[in-house]
Amino acid sequence: MRFLLTIGVVICTAYTTYAQRTIDPYHYSIEKNIRVAKGAVVSAHPLASEVGAMILEQGGNAVDAAIATQLALAVVYPGAGNIGGGGFLVGHLKNGKNIAIDYREKAPAKASRNMYLDSAGNAITQLSLDGHLAAGVPGTVAGLFASMKYARLPFKKLIAPAIELAAKGYVITAAEARDLNEAKEQFIRLNTAPTAFVREEPWKAGDTLFQPELAHTLALIRDKGAAGFYQGETAANIVAEMKRGNGIITLADLKNYQAKERQAVAFPYKKYTIVTMPLPSSGGICLQQLMGMVENYPIAKWGFHSPEAVQLMIEAERRAYADRANFLGDPDFVKVPVKRLTDKKYLASRMQDFVPGKAGSSEITKAGVFPESEETTHLSIIDAEGNAIAVTTTLNGHYGSRTVVGGSGFLLNNEMDDFSVKPGVPNMYGLVGNEANAIAPHKRMLSSMTPTLVLEKNQVLYSLGTPGGSTIITSVFQTLMNTLEFGLTAEEAINKPKFHHQWLPDQVMVENDFPESTIRALEQMGYKITKRGAIGRSEIIKRDPKTKQLEASGDHRGDDSAAGY
Ligand code: DON
Repeated sequence: MRFLLTIGVVICTAYTTYAQRTIDPYHYSIEKNIRVAKGAVVSAHPLASEVGAMILEQGGNAVDAAIATQLALAVVYPGAGNIGGGGFLVGHLKNGKNIAIDYREKAPAKASRNMYLDSAGNAITQLSLDGHLAAGVPGTVAGLFASMKYARLPFKKLIAPAIELAAKGYVITAAEARDLNEAKEQFIRLNTAPTAFVREEPWKAGDTLFQPELAHTLALIRDKGAAGFYQGETAANIVAEMKRGNGIITLADLKNYQAKERQAVAFPYKKYTIVTMPLPSSGGICLQQLMGMVENYPIAKWGFHSPEAVQLMIEAERRAYADRANFLGDPDFVKVPVKRLTDKKYLASRMQDFVPGKAGSSEITKAGVFPESEETTHLSIIDAEGNAIAVTTTLNGHYGSRTVVGGSGFLLNNEMDDFSVKPGVPNMYGLVGNEANAIAPHKRMLSSMTPTLVLEKNQVLYSLGTPGGSTIITSVFQTLMNTLEFGLTAEEAINKPKFHHQWLPDQVMVENDFPESTIRALEQMGYKITKRGAIGRSEIIKRDPKTKQLEASGDHRGDDSAAGY
């Protein structure tokens, strides 16, 4: 009913221009799909999307809106929005330039290869997941300031809504109330100081969450820039928090952290160009491999969710994730044969042992051989000028390490778990790795985050992405296939049931509502199918190449919401 009502509202407001947008943190609604003429933002929370849309309306470009939306998410979506984590921004600017900004967390200087092993050499994976020792040096604030190079409005204006939301509070959704209640015991166990997230009585939808300490930290960042986070009071609070909880991040780690601009991955797929994130995300390389492996098959003819198409995509996924586990890591530390891994001939050779109608095996399929040598959040923005941004940002697990920096009011990530703590030992997403992604001081842990743009004739057509740990890459892959090959609308492309294979474990995960007939056909081919809950929470914006109208959709799997004008 609620959903129908929302659609009704959306249809009524389609193509209207709001004269003045005000953010009301006590009354807001979720807009799953909108069609607008100028600019659109879609993110995991309605208030954050509204903040982004307001910045666009006030003359900001897509980068301004991306910065303001991320800051708002750090307040209204504490599970994954963050200043204590890291992320990636991919953009296509109206001047034709592609950009990729890497603000992934780094291992602290005192991190070491075996830091999560006991004396017998066994992995103690809880240590890379819970509390102080799980945190990498946060990158988000450095990333926001690195992004300012492409912004138009002053930073003070972009951070103002977030400060207000933290100081004056905002009404939480049912999903947020449920998540906070579920994490209560962990918040108590993993913190040394009281946090805004814990109170005596259970949270419920409609309660107001105030975060005064976070508002103070954001004000320091407003007044002192990145130094308001990486130096002075905030840095001292982070280090004091580390000392209270046996963490290892130092003042020098914080002062030395720098975001990096990297060359975006850009590759052709038929008449399109896919622009996405390079290492230290595995996303771009794996996506290029996946699309390259299926490109020459008549996948559109086989049809959406047909056993033939799904099987082909599963086998491509098996091969890409085997390569991921073996070769991929921080390019500042390991030499990754990116050219070879994405070479068309190599990709064709990887599919030579693909047998239609018969399941492959991860015992047989290993990484390619060369002669030598659940929480994150995504936002998509397109502005009236044709600039497009895709940002995926994370604390890793929901609420990260669940440790809040005392006096500063923000959650620290548990990104250290994205390293391979020991060769062959799966991380929280079941991903395995080896040397390339081993822990080393100052190294960035390998990511799967895949913020992605699709260009057609050098004009942006889609901005998309999703959270979901190891399933991010396969979700983005499916959304692209759903739109570019199977002809689904943007909304259908993100909302239809998804599947996932990641080499190990050798099984296909499917969402509970995945079509039974396809499941049965795959089982007959020899696949082990496991049903599970939601895979990802995708956001997507489509820009009509002719009319330039925007269609923005937020995933039905969460509170995701679109805003625009
Ligand atoms: O960077 C990565 O690949 C992971 N830390 C992402 C975590 C994530 O997507 C959790 N969301 N469900």
